[in-house]
Amino acid sequence: MTEKDFIPSKPKVFIEAGKVGYKSPSNIALVKYWGKREGQIPANPSISFTLSACATTTKIQFKKLDSPSHGFTFDFFFEGSPKPSFRPKIETFFKRISPYCPFLTEYHFTIETSNSFPHSSGIASSASGMSALALCLMEIERMLYPGMDDDFFIKKASFLARLGSGSACRSLEGPLVTWGVHKEIPDSTDLYGIPYKGEVHPIFKNYHDTILLVDKGQKQVSSTVGHDLVNGHPFAEQRFQQAHRNLVRLKPILKSGNLEEFIQVIESEALTLHAIMMTGDPYFVLMKPNTLEIINRIWAFREESGSHVCFTLDAGANVHVLYPETEKEKVNQFIVNELVAYCENQQYICDRIGQGAVKLN
Ligand code: DP6
Repeated sequence: MTEKDFIPSKPKVFIEAGKVGYKSPSNIALVKYWGKREGQIPANPSISFTLSACATTTKIQFKKLDSPSHGFTFDFFFEGSPKPSFRPKIETFFKRISPYCPFLTEYHFTIETSNSFPHSSGIASSASGMSALALCLMEIERMLYPGMDDDFFIKKASFLARLGSGSACRSLEGPLVTWGVHKEIPDSTDLYGIPYKGEVHPIFKNYHDTILLVDKGQKQVSSTVGHDLVNGHPFAEQRFQQAHRNLVRLKPILKSGNLEEFIQVIESEALTLHAIMMTGDPYFVLMKPNTLEIINRIWAFREESGSHVCFTLDAGANVHVLYPETEKEKVNQFIVNELVAYCENQQYICDRIGQGAVKLN
């Protein structure tokens, strides 16, 4: 499929007004997307676990305007209150997707959204937020163009979500989603995320992700600045090749359930993401002392207990602690006994691998 396939060509039916809603989860990348080209095209392919507990719920009411507007007309409510600071992000998103969704200028939208996790948790809400919004818009489009098939629906929703935030295109389905062209992943594309089709060992079923909130403040470095830093970075090309290799390495690991090797890939990816930031121009350290303390304690615990707990990081100080269902009791004890003390206000979120977004009635 190409971008052009997402521009509607058929005439649409008349709909005066309606209401749609979706709940969409966040995701955690195993092989990281870091670096992009013009038009939200990833510099390398990535793969993620879809999460379950961390999610955004978005409802949109839409009403036909008497005549099409020049810009976009919408009201935006976050957790029940108007949120003017979010408007520019939505304006930019609407502008970017309007060639693919021409109906955007024909309706007034009332958008209500809320997160299952605290806004000031340092957890990025762009993946869950943009995927929920994109799915709602596609639901409206499906009413306007009846007969749309499910395959087109989900691909275009992921395509639109990507234009809002790259990682958002991996949040619609589960439990594992890849995004970005890779020669060994059939049907892989830079335009949208696709469910991982390789064999997946049952050990990855119900995999846990306990998110330790080390720093609940605003991200020190925005994704935009971070991705930008990769352009012209001296190690960029090697990094992109490494991401391709790590995806190849993961395939047999996901199939066999070899957790020793899984840990090697996952932790290396996390540290590489941070290393790229540390060696950029300008350079940033995204970890906090407590991030490092947690990492060291995970390594020590693994050494002494034989556990398969491991960590990954996003572009911040919080730590995602990953472990299989079979080790749930042991690792939960360890988290409570040894790691929670390093979290801001001792806060953490228990999440696990999920199946993707759900439509609300
Ligand atoms: C470190 O998707 O937030 O989480 O496309 O600019 O919105 P934008 O970036 P974003 O970047 C996420 C980067 C990451 C790794 C990942 O999720 O793959």
